[in-house]
Amino acid sequence: MTYVVTESCIRCKFMDCVEVCPVDCFYEGENMLVIHPDECIDCGVCEPECPAEAILPDTEDGIEKMLEVNKEYAELWPNITQKGEQPEDAEEWQGKPNKFEEQFSAKPGQG
Ligand code: SF4
Ligand code: F3S
Repeated sequence: MTYVVTESCIRCKFMDCVEVCPVDCFYEGENMLVIHPDECIDCGVCEPECPAEAILPDTEDGIEKMLEVNKEYAELWPNITQKGEQPEDAEEWQGKPNKFEEQFSAKPGQG
């Protein structure tokens, strides 16, 4: 089992999650984070920390696609262990639909 960052994170990227992860298994893309599924120890402490409710366990229905995205990009993007500055318009993107299709960026973040 692992926890997964879902598309709700895209362009919100609040980063409260990285501050609480005991094993530093978050990786940073240009406009979202992902969790490395092989490094996550399933402690669950990040889930309630996310203001966008973007983190879910992989037992959730319909999460397979985002699990694959987390797995793929955790290998490509830099590790992030400290909260950086959230996007200025982060709140405006909270709860918006179709963010993966319309807003996902494969570019790495700064880590
Ligand atoms: Fe880190 Fe625990 Fe969240 Fe996994 S569930 S990403 S180990 S804080
Ligand atoms: Fe994203 Fe939530 Fe973390 S918006 S960066 S998963 S706190």
